[in-house]
Amino acid sequence: MAIKLFLLMTLLSHVASSFSEWCHPQDKMALLQIKKELNNPIILSSWKSNTDCCKTSWNGVTCFPSNNRVSELTITDDNNLITSKFPLSVGNLSYLESLSFYHLPNLTGPIPIKSISELFKLKTLIITRTGMSGTIPNFPAQMEQLTYLDLSSNHFSGKLPYYLYKLPKLGVISFHDNFLTGPIPPSYGYFNNKNTPTLFFSHNQLSGRLPISLSRLINPTVIEFSYNKFEGDASMLFGSNKTTREIYLSQNMFKFDLGKVELPKTLTALEVSHNQIYGKLPLGIENLYPLNVSYNNLCGKIPKGGYIHLSDVTSFFHNKCLCGSPLPSCK
Ligand SMILES: *[C@@H]1O[C@H](CO)[C@@H](O)[C@H](O)[C@H]1NC(C)=O
Ligand SMILES: *[C@@H]1O[C@H](CO)[C@@H](O)[C@H](O)[C@H]1NC(C)=O
Ligand SMILES: *[C@@H]1O[C@H](CO)[C@@H](O)[C@H](O)[C@H]1NC(C)=O
Ligand SMILES: *[C@@H]1O[C@H](CO)[C@@H](O)[C@H](O)[C@H]1NC(C)=O
Repeated sequence: MAIKLFLLMTLLSHVASSFSEWCHPQDKMALLQIKKELNNPIILSSWKSNTDCCKTSWNGVTCFPSNNRVSELTITDDNNLITSKFPLSVGNLSYLESLSFYHLPNLTGPIPIKSISELFKLKTLIITRTGMSGTIPNFPAQMEQLTYLDLSSNHFSGKLPYYLYKLPKLGVISFHDNFLTGPIPPSYGYFNNKNTPTLFFSHNQLSGRLPISLSRLINPTVIEFSYNKFEGDASMLFGSNKTTREIYLSQNMFKFDLGKVELPKTLTALEVSHNQIYGKLPLGIENLYPLNVSYNNLCGKIPKGGYIHLSDVTSFFHNKCLCGSPLPSCK
């Protein structure tokens, strides 16, 4: 009898201890699968099948305290030891809100969109400083929580994805430092205007004229289109009723009359150097810092006051006929 009781107790305690694992079995299986797909890298040696992915510290894994589902996954490796494709099994972490893969130069191949689009709760997707390539996919509209999309500093190429504007909560789109080509699609004027995303597109090979629909973007915080091959008009990005804070258009082939734009009252920074922009400096330009209008075809007098004294000659030089301090005085 005593022995039977002992066996029963042992059995019960065994059942209890397996029940007391917080990590959800489905998430654990997915994480171990991810580890395998990444070829069991050293940085994931804390991911062991006999430990709890939520209770013990699995490197880069965070769980919700409420339901013990994996909420965040961050993979980075200073020693560049991960050599693989992006793990498809991330798509099985159904409760994931934040996914970041960064500083992984030997992580290659395309974004596995089929797998990532299973993550309906995802708010943050960061894939940066990897060796990944291919086109940036159209993240489907069911990923309606997606707020922060950072795919900067990779080897992505091809056109900007047309349907991104259907994601209602996108607040930041960061695609800078890739090899993207072609124009900005007209659909990008139709982002949710309650929450216009900040657009970081610099250091690509984007080209062509900006679509006139971009005039509809009332309140992006930052527009960064520098170091591309854009041409023509960019005046639709300006307007006194917008609440844009910073505009960066340097090193393109933009050609429009800057004297005719009304600066957003909220604007603090403007860099447009190395374009073919003409006309006078617009009203209120003295309130901007940093300011750089060098290497254009601008004319007229540089105003005094505001923050103008913070800008030096290099902010204004190489124009057609700008004059006044810090350039030589007007004749
Ligand atoms: C990662 O890639 C670089 C070249 O891009 C290579 O020199 C290095 O050996 C690779 N590292 C590993 C661990 O494969
Ligand atoms: C992970 O998802 C794939 C399909 O996306 C499925 O075949 C597989 O069974 C899933 N694995 C787990 C552990 O749920
Ligand atoms: C700015 O907004 C006001 C009121 O909302 C409107 O009357 C005015 O026409 C707008 N100005 C421009 C330049 O859009
Ligand atoms: C302005 O831009 C020009 C051209 O790129 C550069 O040489 C200069 O240093 C810049 N000036 C400032 C103050 O940023």
